[in-house]
Order: sequence, then structure tokens, then C-alpha cells
Amino acid sequence: IGGVAALSTLVGAGVWTGRYRPALRAASASTAMEGPFDVDLRVRARPDKVAILPGAPSDVWRYTAERIVGPEDTLTPVGESYTGPLIRLRRGQRLRVRIDNDLPEDTTVHWHGLHVPPDVDGQPRLPIAPATSMAVAFDVVDRAGLYWYHPHPHGPDGGRVGFQSYAGLAGPLIINDDAERALELPDGERELVLILQDRTFSNGNELQYIDDGGMGAMMTRMQGFRGERVLVNGHPDARREVSTQPYRLRLLNGSNSRIYKLAWSDGRAVTVIGTDGGLLAKPERRRSVTLAPAQRIDLWVDFGDTEPGESVQLVSEEYQLGMMGERMGDMMDRGMMGDRMGGMMDRGMMGDRMGEMMDRGMMRDMMGSERLSLVTFAVVARANDAETLPERLAQDLPASPVQADTPVRRFELGMRMMQGFTINGRQMEGATVADDEIVRLAQTEIWEFVNNTMMPHPMHVHGLQFLVQERISAGGKTDLHDGIIDAGLHDTVLVFPEERVRIALTFKDFEGFYMYHCHTMEHEDAGMMRYFKVVA
Ligand code: C2O
Ligand code: CU
Ligand code: CU
Repeated sequence: IGGVAALSTLVGAGVWTGRYRPALRAASASTAMEGPFDVDLRVRARPDKVAILPGAPSDVWRYTAERIVGPEDTLTPVGESYTGPLIRLRRGQRLRVRIDNDLPEDTTVHWHGLHVPPDVDGQPRLPIAPATSMAVAFDVVDRAGLYWYHPHPHGPDGGRVGFQSYAGLAGPLIINDDAERALELPDGERELVLILQDRTFSNGNELQYIDDGGMGAMMTRMQGFRGERVLVNGHPDARREVSTQPYRLRLLNGSNSRIYKLAWSDGRAVTVIGTDGGLLAKPERRRSVTLAPAQRIDLWVDFGDTEPGESVQLVSEEYQLGMMGERMGDMMDRGMMGDRMGGMMDRGMMGDRMGEMMDRGMMRDMMGSERLSLVTFAVVARANDAETLPERLAQDLPASPVQADTPVRRFELGMRMMQGFTINGRQMEGATVADDEIVRLAQTEIWEFVNNTMMPHPMHVHGLQFLVQERISAGGKTDLHDGIIDAGLHDTVLVFPEERVRIALTFKDFEGFYMYHCHTMEHEDAGMMRYFKVVA
């Protein structure tokens, strides 16, 4: 759709940075937690140059890390690109991380999916200014699973999550525990962490992101940025050599807004053993699996039925969501688009763009995706290991905490034409909450997300994992519905247009501010994000 420019020009020319004025710096969030620490790390966010495509290296922002205390396997590089190192923790460890900001603007580090106190959660109200550091410490209490860390800055003029993550700031974090170890799932060389991110490059290999001006940029922000090619762990054309035995694939959708419809090129079933919050009670098998931004999925695949010389691809299948047309029509009928559109049409702004987009079939594409090849698994060796996947996995999943009198809190996802998306009619306003955003410590609630927009929104809640209770689709099933895994624990749930999704969550241990938001990064940056407050 256009409206993109090279990252370096966006930083250098201050297209974004100039408008982004950091919130007032809060008191240092150096958490009071006492040592000794089982793991002590130093994480640095900094600009760098990395070879991603053949030819010139690309300017990126990235995390690097150093282990001061902790087991040797605490940090492992992920590929040889910009991706932050894999941080491997064990449940029960006490962790301290010193974060150094060597970027030219404020940042934060958010521990996505982890149950941590509000002040170490990397929220926008606690920015780390350039050339300063912040230390955070917490106990690792979550289940074994794949989590991740990424920036979360948001100033009065909008968020920088999309920009900073796109520039390369993101990394995976794995927690291991005894319950998981007892299952003897594939590990070592047969446990692969795969981070999916789509990117657009200029001819000179510069990363390109949304620029500031015009209709193209605005439309791209509404839709969410989608890159022209998919990188896996920061590399194009990902390929892994495997042998004829089972593997565990741990996928993170680290893309700004693209949803993937994961499938195997040879049509074999996709076997899911875990979700955001760790292992499922039993494997789920699907023809395809839907992975929205920020979500993780744990797959088991056995190449035992292949021969050396063969290869199998993990792909994202083509899909159409196809509501754009109908919804637009509907909105026109109800006169919702009328005023704004009228103005733009008068000025000939919409007309030109729309015409052009329709011509190029882009409106349709806005709500769907072409087929993409993600990873090629090249079978290179025979192995006679014939492990089978246990049909009983996690024994420690919580039963539904919902009772007849569990309160229901409703969040209507809406749209303000040309001004982005809203939650209950509101947008991000800093660390203030409305009456309906205060929750009680130790209370279980049902949160109901109602999607009144024409786009799917992956809704994320900080500081906990929740259970999906119910999904009611008034708009009918889309190409992506069959691949939705609602079993297990989640921190991000995809809510389709004309759908109501109910989740059950309990606010344990920590009082204070947390966040909930859409994890389409351009949506959260444009204000589809709010604080909630846990009070005793
Ligand atoms: Cu992954 Cu509020 O974030
Ligand atoms: Cu989060
Ligand atoms: Cu959204």
C-alpha cells in the first residue's frame, strides 16, 4: 500500500523520534528484591549493522546480553542475525537483569507472558532514557513454556513498540521445569526455536517501515504493517537439516501484525503440544494452525516417515478473511464512514488511493495473506530413534476457576474512523484507569472481548496466563477459525470481527498497574491499549 521508508531515514530525520517525546521519567524501577540471584544478566539495547540479505548489511536495533551469574545454558545465540539471545530459565530461579539503553530514544523491556510485579513489567510508565540503565529482579514462577521479551515504550504522541520491535528488538525466553522434563520431549539439537517476522527491504537492503505522511501510511497503520518476506530468526530462506526422528518446534510470531496459517507442505497434520503458557493436557492435531502476533505454539513433528534426500516445508497457507467488503458496505449504509469519507472524497484523497488499491486488488489482500514458505526441513540422515509422543502431556493445567457468580467484564473493541481503534471507546492515556478497569487481587473474572471492527485483533493481557472459556462467532467461520487452538493457557487471544471471546483470569500476588491491549503493534501504538489496576 506504500507509505514506507527506510528505517534509518525514519530515525535520522526524526520522522518518528521528533514526534515522540518520552513520558516523564519515573523514579528508578530498580526493584527492591534481595539477592542472592541464581541468574544475573546484563541486557543491552543498541543499534548495530547485521548482514540479513546478500550484499550490504542492514541497520538494526538489537538486544545483546551477557551472563554475570547463572548456568552456562542461560544465554544462547538465536541465529547470526539481529534476534535477541534465547534466555533459558528454570522455574524457581531468582533473576536479576540490568538493562542498558544505548538507543537514541527511550525504551523498556517487557517480559511478555510472565507473571512479574508491575514495576519490572517494562510498561511505558517506566521508560529507560538513552544512556541510562535500569535493574529489574523477579522470581521465575511461570510454567515451562516459551515466552519472549520486547520493548514497550509509549509517549504522549503514540507508541514505539512497532518501530522498535521491527528494527530488531525482540528475543525468546524459555522456562523449563521438572514436570516438563519428565515427559522427555525432544531437546538439544532436536528442540528448535523459530521466530517468525515479516520484513520489507529497500534495494540497498535497508529495513523499511511506515513513514509519517499521507494516506498510504495511515492505511498501513490501520491494517497493521506487513512485510514482503518472512525471516526466521532474522534469516531469509530458513533451512534446517534434520534426521528421521521427532523434533520439537517452538514458534513465536514476532511479526508486527501478520497472522500465519501454519501447515506442512506434504499435508501431514500439525501436532500442537503447547501454547503461550506451556504444554497442553494432550496433543491437538489440526490441518492448519493459526498463529497471531505475539502468540507462541509448541509443535511436535516426526520426520521418521521420510527418507534422507527428501524435504518437508513448514508453510503459511493462503487465506482470505474477506469481511472487508461486507463491513465497508455495512458501514456506508449506516452512514458511519460517511462524514470522514465525504471530506476525504471531496478533497480527492480517498478516491485516488481507493481506486488504485482496488485496481491492484489490495483491499482484498489487506484482509488475507498469500502462501508463504517459512522453513524447509531437509532430511539428511537416518536415525533409528522411534520415540512416540505421549498422549497425556501436562498434568498441572488449572481447572477452570469459573463459578456461577464469577463477574463478567466486557470490552468492546471499536474503531474511530481515521483515528485508529478503541477499547470501550477509549484509547491509551498513560497510567490512569477508569472505574471499569480496576480489578480485585485474587479475584477470578471473565473478560469478554467483543469485536465491533472489521479486523481481527489479538488481545493480550499482561502479567498472567488465562483460559479461553468461550468463542461465539456471529460473523461465521473464516479461513483461520479451524486452526485456532483455544485449549491450554494463553496470554494473547485472537478475536475475529463480529466475534465475542470470553477468557477466565485471576489476578494473583501483585497489586498495581498492568496493561491490556491489541498486539497488532500498529494498533497498540495508535492507542488500542489501556492500563488496568489490581487493588487489594
Ligand atoms: Cu508483548 Cu504489552 O506486550
Ligand atoms: Cu505482554
Ligand atoms: Cu488490533
